[in-house]
Amino acid sequence: MMLFRGLASPAEPAASTTPTAPHPHAPGTSPSAARRPKPLRVEAFRRRMPVPPVAKPVRRTEAGDEYEVEVRPAQLELAPGVVTDAFTYGGAWVGPTIRGRTGRPVKVTFRNKLAAHTNVHLHGGHVKAVDDGHPMDMIMPGAAKDYHYPNNQRGATLWYHDHVHGDEAEHTYRGLHSFYLVDDPAEDHLGLPAGAYDVPVMFTDVQLDADGTLIWGFPHDRTHVVVNGRIKPYFPVAARKYRFRFLNATNEGTYTLSLRQGKITQIGSDGGLLPAPVPRSSVTLSSGERADLVIDFTGIPVGSSVMLSDSTKGEVLRFDVTSTADDASKIPARLRPLPALPKATVQRDVSLKFDFSGEPVPLINGKPYDPDRVDFTIKRGATEIWTVHNDDADLDHNFHMHLVQFRVLDRSGMPMSQDDEGLKDTVRLPAGTSVRLQATFTDYLGRYVYHCHFLEHSSFGMMAQMEVVR
Ligand code: C2O
Ligand code: CU
Ligand code: CU
Repeated sequence: MMLFRGLASPAEPAASTTPTAPHPHAPGTSPSAARRPKPLRVEAFRRRMPVPPVAKPVRRTEAGDEYEVEVRPAQLELAPGVVTDAFTYGGAWVGPTIRGRTGRPVKVTFRNKLAAHTNVHLHGGHVKAVDDGHPMDMIMPGAAKDYHYPNNQRGATLWYHDHVHGDEAEHTYRGLHSFYLVDDPAEDHLGLPAGAYDVPVMFTDVQLDADGTLIWGFPHDRTHVVVNGRIKPYFPVAARKYRFRFLNATNEGTYTLSLRQGKITQIGSDGGLLPAPVPRSSVTLSSGERADLVIDFTGIPVGSSVMLSDSTKGEVLRFDVTSTADDASKIPARLRPLPALPKATVQRDVSLKFDFSGEPVPLINGKPYDPDRVDFTIKRGATEIWTVHNDDADLDHNFHMHLVQFRVLDRSGMPMSQDDEGLKDTVRLPAGTSVRLQATFTDYLGRYVYHCHFLEHSSFGMMAQMEVVR
């Protein structure tokens, strides 16, 4: 199926246009050259993994905190010694982390300094439709838009990225992705590792030419894993517990991450904390998913290192134990109970499948995305069970819903996997399988999308729209 996967990706390296692309490429973003790229060789573990900067509010009022973020081009050093042109939030591959607090609203003004249109979606956020970064809500070059995030949701690791109609795959690939953390006063007493010991880690993969040019080509050629903006970095740690919030922000792919040494305990997933900590030997994350983890380096001798590897891409990040440190943090045996599951009153089926009869087209329930069509009408307050099917026999997908955090009930009639625990907004959907999800649609009315989060699929049609009504 590699042929179909290739055809289904938005731009072959040698092609200047793609028949399935709803938009021409924006100025300055044309597919990177009709030449055979020479792959870049990267010297491993030469540079330190950066911790994304935490954004400072430009204003704090009774009504909440206000931030400003520039969406702009920047030249970055993803690999040592070469320069890569990227699209960024605030000038970095992982831009400013916005830290909201449950119950306290945030307003972010995004200023578009790109030559391309953009918009911003808070992935995992429970927000009004006008603030959700609907594909047709665009910020034109030179313009700005305010997004309001009420933070009326539990503590969670969210992220923001481009979602502009037809171009979100390319724009997100080029660097428009950052963290948004919701801190929750109801979790302050738990004593989890905090401050310098609470580190968000974003994994993305890229294809780079030998001169550092970012190549917008086939997903399967993206062999370099970028960790917080650097390829194969090291990260100095003390021999104690850390909270790491792993995010797979890659356009199209699944990581299975494990450590050679040291203990991984999962404490949360997409939408917040789990009821109790879960020891994990590895975690699997498809595009868009998060895992909130505690890694305990206690007892590992200073001077040694611990390798984090992906099951297919190999070594991605090396933790170097460089010191000892006091550690008053805990992993309590009980974290936070999940909200009760109300009784569902509506059942729906969602089918993800490519149409291979001609030029491959990614579809949901037999149709490509149409922003003018409402696929599901949902009554506000309703609880629904969606059975989402991957009806492709050889192609993996995944599934993401805006507006809600859902729960996984089961997979192809079998118990869910450990990676499905807790409040989720994105789940894996391997070829030929199905997953049953339950969600309650509260608070907001209007149109929201749901889609495969392999962005080359969603950008080119594997997306649909629900409308929440009174
Ligand atoms: Cu990461 Cu439609 O979202
Ligand atoms: Cu989303
Ligand atoms: Cu897909």
